Amino acid sequence: MERFLINGQKPLSGEVYISGAKNAAVAVIPAVVMASDVCVIDNLPNIEDIRSLKDAMENIGAKCEYLSEHSLSINPTAIKSYIATTDSVRNMRASYYLVGALLGRFKKAEVALPGGCNFGNRPIDQHLKGFKALGAKVSIENGIIKAYADELKGASIYLDVVSVGATVNIMLAAVFAEGITTIENAAKEPHIVDCANFLNMMGANIKGAGTDVIRIIGVEKLNGARYTIIPDQIEAGTYMIASAVTGGDVVVRNIIPKHMDPLSAKLSEMNCEIIEGDDYIRVKSNGNLISTNIKTRAYPGFPTDLQPQMTALLSVAEGTGVITENIWENRFQYIDELKRFGCNVTVEGRVAVVEGGAKITGATAKATDLRAGAALIICALAAKGQTIIENTRFIDRGYECIEHKLRNLGADITRVDKNGKISENTVLIQKVN
Ligand code: EPZ
Repeated sequence: MERFLINGQKPLSGEVYISGAKNAAVAVIPAVVMASDVCVIDNLPNIEDIRSLKDAMENIGAKCEYLSEHSLSINPTAIKSYIATTDSVRNMRASYYLVGALLGRFKKAEVALPGGCNFGNRPIDQHLKGFKALGAKVSIENGIIKAYADELKGASIYLDVVSVGATVNIMLAAVFAEGITTIENAAKEPHIVDCANFLNMMGANIKGAGTDVIRIIGVEKLNGARYTIIPDQIEAGTYMIASAVTGGDVVVRNIIPKHMDPLSAKLSEMNCEIIEGDDYIRVKSNGNLISTNIKTRAYPGFPTDLQPQMTALLSVAEGTGVITENIWENRFQYIDELKRFGCNVTVEGRVAVVEGGAKITGATAKATDLRAGAALIICALAAKGQTIIENTRFIDRGYECIEHKLRNLGADITRVDKNGKISENTVLIQKVN
């Protein structure tokens, strides 16, 4: 029931520190299920999805304890249950990684079908194909994924589509499979490399993560480990776009600049100045943006998770921009909300044509999913007058303290509760044990 109130047209400036990557953290935490000792995960983002996953881990018996706001100790030795069907599992996408991890540890898993952002059909056939190839019997009954194996044996698996989730899930299940598993046509996202690095640190034998062929040689045991999550590429990109849209000058710190190449290239084309350092990117914009075209692709292509934010940016650039969404069949649902600001976008199937130069004004709009919510914030920052953004819970799923970070950069943004009272950032309220 909380809302953001944003008064736009304030150029952002200063520095923003990027949190740990949500999509890496949600793969690394389930991997702990397979460890034989305590693991400590550092640089975890303090966001709703991580708290849901912690609940899901506790529900199967893991002992979790926050050592600090961003460090979680997880003791998996007391995990006895291979069944994860609680609401915390149903409400998020990445809980499906528990299938691979529980199957790896117990040779059996029962996990509720995942929820998460809704942008069309989100099949998991490639995950299931991988589990079957490793020797599991797999079925979906009453909304629960069931996987059972007498033993898991290495296999050669070719993914029909490049899938982040299937790549991670098969990698998890294959860690203890006897012999060699190869995943061909694997996804190459930085979060896949991060999860593989964590598994290897615990004693797994995984080679090739970050290329399209991953080779896993089965091992018998994983030890405990302490691991630091990589910075969030999508959060970083969102602040880079926020700087561009406000004619700002923002240094986005604690990032891996290479991960930002697809966006940096596009922002340069749009007339922004991009200055890269070892672990930061500075985005300077004089406000005179030129339109460009975007085609979303699996990494190292342009990320679909920055597509909505780019639509908002293109709306205020000069000229016409064409966005082609190649990953999700229905990821333009948020466009109707952008139109409330005066954005001029026409959608035809997987293509959106954005007529730039819109004189956008503040509006009341609803976040329909996580990145759609981020796109509304980008619009609101550029709009004349006040914006009210509803459904902030979607944004809290993936952005740590977004209003604090934006306010530090000079944005006029406040979170209010249903009575209009300035509200504590619920994201900051720790559930520290
Ligand atoms: C991950 O989702 C991310 N989520 C998404 O981030 C991101 O949009 C997506 O990858 C693409 O980059 C997490 O990492 C938790 P996929 P995932 O499997 O793994 C098709 C965000 O905002 N497919 O790579 O679910 C599928 O339909 C989000 O942070 C199959 O056909 O995506 C899609 O077209 C939301 N069969 C394509 O592959 C399968 O078995 C890519 O999906 C699996 C996928």
